[in-house]
Amino acid sequence: MTPIVHLLLLPLLVSAATGEGLQDKEGSFENTTLDVAEAPPVPYPIHEATGEGLQDKKGPFENTALDVAEATPVPYPIHKFEVTDPGVDGFRLTGEGSEDVKISSEGWLFLQHPLDWARNDHYIIGVEALKGNSVVDGPIYVTINVLDINNHAPAFNSSSYTGVVLEHSPAGVPFTRVFASDLDDPASPNARLKYSLVSQIPNKHHIALFQINADTGEISTTAEGAQMLKAREGIRYSRGEDQSIEALKTKFDNFCSPVQSIPYEQNPFFTCVERAELRRRSIDRMEDPDYTLIVRVQDLGGESSNSLSGSTYVNVIVKQNLWVSPGPIIIKEHLKEVYPHVITQVQSNDPNAIYRLVQKERVLNFPFRISVDGEIELTEELDREDKDMYILVVFAEDQYGNQLDPPMEIQVVVQDVNDNAPECEAETVFEVQEDEPVGSLIGAFLAHDADDTATLNAQLTYSIVSQTPSASANAFSIDSMLGEIRSLQVLRRRDSKIYHLDVQVSDPVFSVQCKVVIKVIDVNNQLPLFETNDYGSHSLAEDTPVGHTLLTIKATDADEADSGSSKIEFHISEGNEDGIFAVQTEENGVGELVIVKPLDFETSSSYNLKIDARNVEPLMKGLEYGKESSASVQLEVTDVDEAPEFSLDILDVTVPEDIAKGTVVLKVEANDPEGKDISFKLDGDSQDWLEIDDASGEIKTKNTLDRETLETFSVTVTAFEKNNPEKLSERELSFTLLDINDNHPKLTETYSFICYNKPAPVLIKAEDADAPPFSEPFTFAFNHGKKSPNWDLQTVDGSTAKLTLKKSPGADKTFTLAINIKDNAGLGVNQALEVQVCNCTELGYCYVEPGKHSFMLGMGATIGILVGIVGFCIILFVIVIRRSGKKKQKTKKAEEQNAML
Ligand SMILES: *[C@@H]1O[C@H](CO)[C@@H](O)[C@H](O)[C@H]1NC(C)=O
Ligand SMILES: *[C@@H]1O[C@H](CO)[C@@H](O)[C@H](O)[C@H]1NC(C)=O
Ligand SMILES: *[C@@H]1O[C@H](CO)[C@@H](O)[C@H](O)[C@H]1NC(C)=O
Repeated sequence: MTPIVHLLLLPLLVSAATGEGLQDKEGSFENTTLDVAEAPPVPYPIHEATGEGLQDKKGPFENTALDVAEATPVPYPIHKFEVTDPGVDGFRLTGEGSEDVKISSEGWLFLQHPLDWARNDHYIIGVEALKGNSVVDGPIYVTINVLDINNHAPAFNSSSYTGVVLEHSPAGVPFTRVFASDLDDPASPNARLKYSLVSQIPNKHHIALFQINADTGEISTTAEGAQMLKAREGIRYSRGEDQSIEALKTKFDNFCSPVQSIPYEQNPFFTCVERAELRRRSIDRMEDPDYTLIVRVQDLGGESSNSLSGSTYVNVIVKQNLWVSPGPIIIKEHLKEVYPHVITQVQSNDPNAIYRLVQKERVLNFPFRISVDGEIELTEELDREDKDMYILVVFAEDQYGNQLDPPMEIQVVVQDVNDNAPECEAETVFEVQEDEPVGSLIGAFLAHDADDTATLNAQLTYSIVSQTPSASANAFSIDSMLGEIRSLQVLRRRDSKIYHLDVQVSDPVFSVQCKVVIKVIDVNNQLPLFETNDYGSHSLAEDTPVGHTLLTIKATDADEADSGSSKIEFHISEGNEDGIFAVQTEENGVGELVIVKPLDFETSSSYNLKIDARNVEPLMKGLEYGKESSASVQLEVTDVDEAPEFSLDILDVTVPEDIAKGTVVLKVEANDPEGKDISFKLDGDSQDWLEIDDASGEIKTKNTLDRETLETFSVTVTAFEKNNPEKLSERELSFTLLDINDNHPKLTETYSFICYNKPAPVLIKAEDADAPPFSEPFTFAFNHGKKSPNWDLQTVDGSTAKLTLKKSPGADKTFTLAINIKDNAGLGVNQALEVQVCNCTELGYCYVEPGKHSFMLGMGATIGILVGIVGFCIILFVIVIRRSGKKKQKTKKAEEQNAML
C-alpha cells in the first residue's frame, strides 16, 4: 500500500482510533497529530492521489471475502462499505479479529494491528450499520483471509544430530537424517524446504564422502565414502575376552610396556584408543566424532535469493566393520595340501558370534566347513571337472540363532589345472584311392581333452611322429591345430597298401600318441556288376504281408575288397514311386528286395523295378555307371478275394426324434472289390428302433424314437459277401436324436397347503423333459389367463412361481386350481394344483389324512406331511383337552381314543 492511501485515510483512521465521529474534530485533534507522527512520511500532495487505487476497494454493504497479507504495516485500509440508507451514522464490528480490524463511521474497514498467518489464517467479522444506537442494516459477514508471507526461517529440531556409519556399507543407503520445519504456510513455497551439505570436517583430500537427500534430509555415503571411510583403529578381542577398560589397559601394557613407561593418562595413543573403545561400546559417546557435517536448510525450495535458511551439525562416527566378504576365492583343483586346509577367514563384529556355513545350491558334496574362529576350511581336494564353483553362505549368530550380521556369500572358484591328457581312439582308419593328387584331404583326426576348453589346458596340437613304412619319407602332413591329414605325394598301392602313422597329440602339459591307419585302396576303376540284369517276372498275391522278401539280388565289384571302391549300395531307381519296395543289404553285394507297404491289386497290378548298384567311393575319372550296374524285376500282383468295402465313411447321424416310423434315415453303400454280391446287417440297436434292408443298405426306423429315453446311441453295420459271410467289413454309426417339443412342463408337486392364520405364499415348481429351447423359462397363469379373486400367481424364475392367497376363506378348505404352465416354445396344458387352506398345527402344517396325497408327492413333501401328522397329534391332544374343559367330560372315552392318534 502506498503512502497516498494513508494520507487519504488519515481523518478516518483518526476518528476510528479515538472512537468518535469525524464531527468531533476538536476533541480528537491531539491524537490526530500523534497518528500522523507515527505514520510514514507523506511525499505527495492529496490531490494527486484522489480516488486512485481506492475505487476498487469500495463495495456494497453485503457479505464479502477479502485478502490481507500478513505483517502489512498499519494503519491499512481494507475495504469501504457503501450503505444506501443515508441516515446511517456508524458501524459496529463483532466476532474474532475485531481487535486487529476496525471500521470508521464512513464504513472504511481498516487494519489496526498487523496480522500473523501463523496465528490465524482467516477471520470472520460481522458488520452492522447503525443509526444512533439501533441497527438499521446487517449484520453482514466479512471473511478476511490472511495471506502468508515468507516471514519464518526454517529451523532444525535439534542443534546437532548424530550418525553412525559402518565401514564398507554401500553408497546411497541413509544412515541418519535431519529434520527441519518452517512455520509458514506449508501449501506455499514459503515452507518448501531444501537440504544441502555445506561442509564436511575434516576434508583433507577435498573429496565429498557424504551426501544428503535435498528433499528428505537423509544422509548417506557417496561412492567414494563407501570406499574410503575407515574406522579408527580399535582393539580386537577374541571370543569370550573381557572387554573392560581394565582389560584394555592390560592389552596396552602387553603391547607397549617394553617400549615406554609413561602412565596411561598421559599417553595420547592410549587416550585415543580408549576413546575409540568407549565409542565402539556405546555409540552415544559423541564427544569425538570422526566427521562433522554442516547441514543447511533453505525455504522457497532453496531457489530464491530471498530464501531464509537454518543450519545444524551432524556428527558422524565411522564404526569398524569386520564382517566383510573376502571376495571370490580361487582354489586350484587337486591342490596337494594337508586337509582340512584353511582357505580364508571371516570375522563377525561380535567376537562371540557363532558361525554357520551352508552352501547356496543343493549339491551333495560340500567339502567346506567353518571353525569357531570363522576360519573356512576345505576338507578335500577339489576337481574342476566335477564342479567348477561353489557359493558359500556364512551366518554369524548368537547362541539363540539370532543373526548378528547379515548373511554373507563367498564364491569359491575352482581353477583348472591341466590334469587331463588328450584322449584318442585306439586306432583311426582312413581310406584313400591311389593316384589322388598331392594335397588331397584324407581325413580330419580329432582327439579330446577333458580340461576346461576355454583354457589352453584343452588346446591340442597334432604332429606326425612316425610313419610305417618309412621308405617313402613324409607321405603325409597333419595340420597342427585342425588335425587334417593330407597326402604329400601321389600314393600308389605298389609302394604300400597301408600306412601306419603315430600322431602325437599334446596339450601344454600332456602328450599322447595315437595310431592312424591310412589304407591306399584301389582306384575305383571297376564297376559293380549284377549277376543278371533281368531278374524276370514274379507273381505276388495282393495280401502278401509287409516285410516279405521277394528275391535276393547280387552284384560284384572287382576293385579291392573291403574298400569303398568295391562296397556296393543298391537303389531302386524306377517303378517304385509309391515306395512299396526297398532293398535291404546285409552282406556286401547281396541285397534283399522286400515289401515295405501293403500291395493293392485294384490300385496297381504290376510293377517294373529298376535297381542300380553303386559304389561308396566315387568312380575313377572318366568312368561312368552303365547298364551292367543295373537290373530289372517285373512283379505281377494277383487278386485276392477281399472283404466288401464301405464307400462312404459315415460315422455320425443326427435325426429329429419325431421322425415318422418307417422313414429311411440313411443308406449305407459298400462294394466288394471283386464285385461279388453283398448283404448288410445291423447290430447293437438296444431300443429296437432301426432296421436295415439287407440288400440295399437302407436304414429305416421301425418304431418311434424318443430323445428323452436315449439321446445318443451307436449301432454297427456289417457288409458281408453273401456266399462267404466271413469276408466282412464293419462300420459303427453314431446316432444323435434332435429334441422336439414333445413334452410340456409338469408340476413337480400337485399338492400344497397354506396356513390361514399365517398365510405364506406357496412356491410351485415345474419341469420339462425337453431340452432348450423347448423347456425353461416357463410361464405360469391361471386357467386361460383368467384372474382369480382369491389367488395371485407370480412368476419367480424360469421354473418357479409364487402362489399367494389374497383372501382367507375363514375356515379349512381345499382348493383345486387349474394352472396353465407353458414352456419357452408355448407348449403347455392346464394342470391341477390342490391347495389346502387350514388352521395349521403348531408346527405349521395342515393335517393330511395319511396316504391321501403321498402317492403323488415327492419324498420331501412326504416327510413334511409326516412331520405334519406328528404335529397334528400333539395339537389334537391339546384340542382334546380344551374341548374336554368346555364340554365337561362328555365323550371321555372317544377323546381318549383320539388322543392316541
Ligand atoms: C488520545 O490517544 C491516547 C492513546 O493513544 C488516549 O489515551 C487518549 O485518551 C486520546 N485522547 C483523546 C482526546 O481522545
Ligand atoms: C525431529 O523431528 C523428527 C520428525 O518429527 C523426529 O523423529 C525427531 O525425533 C526429532 N528430533 C528431535 C531431537 O526432536
Ligand atoms: C385355529 O387354531 C387355534 C389354536 O391352534 C385356535 O385358537 C383358533 O381359534 C383356530 N381358529 C379357527 C378359525 O378355527
